[in-house]
Amino acid sequence: MLKRIAALIVWAVTFGLGVDAFAAKLNVEIPGDHGKLAAVLQTPDNRELYPLVMLLHGFSSHKETKLFKNIADDLEKDGIASIRFDFNGHGRSEGDFQDMTIANEVTDAEKVYEYVSRMPQVTSVSVAGHSQGGVVAGILAAGLGKEKIKSVVLLAPAAVLHYGALHGVLFGKEFDIRNLPEYIELRGGRRIGRRYVETAKELDIYGISAKYKGPVLIIHGTADRIVPYSYGERYKEIYHDADLKLLKGFDHAFNPDRAVAERIVTDYFKKRLMTQENDFSKEDAKMKKILVAYFSASGVTAKVAKRLAKAVGADLFAIEPEKPYTEADLNWQNRQSRSSVEMNDHSSRPAIASKVANMNEYDTVFVGFPIWWYREPSIIDTFMEAYDFKGKTVIPFATSGSSPIGDAGKNMQNLATGAKVLKGKRFAESVSEEELKKWADEQ
Ligand SMILES: Cc1cc2nc3c(=O)[nH]c(=O)nc-3n(C[C@H](O)[C@H](O)[C@H](O)COP(=O)(O)O)c2cc1C
Repeated sequence: MLKRIAALIVWAVTFGLGVDAFAAKLNVEIPGDHGKLAAVLQTPDNRELYPLVMLLHGFSSHKETKLFKNIADDLEKDGIASIRFDFNGHGRSEGDFQDMTIANEVTDAEKVYEYVSRMPQVTSVSVAGHSQGGVVAGILAAGLGKEKIKSVVLLAPAAVLHYGALHGVLFGKEFDIRNLPEYIELRGGRRIGRRYVETAKELDIYGISAKYKGPVLIIHGTADRIVPYSYGERYKEIYHDADLKLLKGFDHAFNPDRAVAERIVTDYFKKRLMTQENDFSKEDAKMKKILVAYFSASGVTAKVAKRLAKAVGADLFAIEPEKPYTEADLNWQNRQSRSSVEMNDHSSRPAIASKVANMNEYDTVFVGFPIWWYREPSIIDTFMEAYDFKGKTVIPFATSGSSPIGDAGKNMQNLATGAKVLKGKRFAESVSEEELKKWADEQ
C-alpha cells in the first residue's frame, strides 16, 4: 500500500496533475478538445499494478450515472482501475454542448487515454462505452489499435445516429437535411449544433470501428427503443473477435435490471484482464526492471527518452528541477546565466523536484540529458548522488547541438560507487525507436 501511494505521488508530482494521491477515487482534470474534462480516477487499494478501463457516457449524459458508478465500484473490487469523465459540454466538463460532436468526443477520449497510459501503475487500458459513448469507444479503439486498447465493451452502441443524421431525425426531433438549421433544440432546451449533424452524417461508424482487431463484447437490450438491437447485431458482424449478449426485454438504460448488465461488463473485464493481467503483471515486473530517467530543458531529450522507454519496455521518470529553468537561465552566451554559473562549478547540485520511489527495483537505468558545455548538466550529478546505484547498470544517453557525449559517463561513474556506468551515446532528435532499440540491445 505504501509503495502504491509513493508511486502515485511520484506520478502526480512528475506529471504535475495536482491529484489527491491518498484517495482511491481521485477527481482529476484533463485537458480535452474543448477545455478541461472533469474525470474520476478510481483505483484498487491493494495492488501496485492494475489494468484500467475507460468509461464513456452517452449523449447528454454524464460520468456519475448509476451504471458507471456501479461498474467502477465492481471493477475496483476486482482489482481493476477505471476512469470516467464528462465529455466536452457535458456534466462538469468545460465546453458548450452545442459545439460537441462525435469527432471531438473521440479527441477527448484520446486525451484521457494519453493521460492514463502515462500512469506507471497501469498495465493495460480497455474501454467501455454506453450509447453514443459506445460509438466513441469503437472509434477510439480502432484508432489506437489492440496494442493500446486491450478490450472493448459496447453497451447499446448508438450507430443509429449516423442514419438519423442522414434521414433528418435525431433524438426524436425531425429536421430538414437539405437546409440544416444552426441547431436543433431538444426537449429540455439542449441544442445539438449543426456541426454535430454534419459530421454524424459523414461518419462511417461501422467501417472505422471494424479496424479494431482486439476482443469486443456488445451488450444490447431487445426492448431498446432508442437504439434498436439490430445495431448491436451489426456491430458483432463487423468485428474480428466479438461476442454479443442480447438481454431480453431490457431497454436502452438496461431496465428492468441494470445490475445484470453491470455484472456482465465487470465479469467480462475480470475474465479478460485479470487472468491475463496477472501473468502480464509478473512478466511486466520482470520487464519493468528497466528505468529511463531523463532531464530535458527544452523537450528534445524528452522525446528521445520516451521513444527509448517504449522501445525497451521501460518505466519513464522525468528529472524535473525544483526551480524550473527559464529561457534566461539557459542562455549559454551569458556567463552570468544560471546554467553558466552552475556548469562552471562542478560541485553545484541543483535540487530535483521528486524522487523515483522504487529505484531498488531497477537493474538498468538509462539516464538521458542535453549536453551542456560538453558534459552532463549539474542536475544529472544531483540525480546520480540521490540514489544507491550499487549493482545497477547505468547507461547515459544525450542530445546536443552537435557535441558527442564525451566524458559524461566517466563523470557519472565517479558519483555512483559500485555501479557500472557505461560510456553512453549522443543521439540526434530524429533517432528512431528501432535505432534506439538496437543500441539498447547492444549494451
Ligand atoms: C546551457 C546550454 C549549454 C549547451 N551546451 C552545448 C554543448 O556544449 N554542445 C552542444 O552540442 N550543444 C549544447 N547545447 C545544446 C543542447 O545540448 C541541445 O539543444 C539539446 O538537444 C537540448 O536538449 P533538451 O531540449 O532536452 O534540453 C547547450 C544548450 C544549453 C541550454
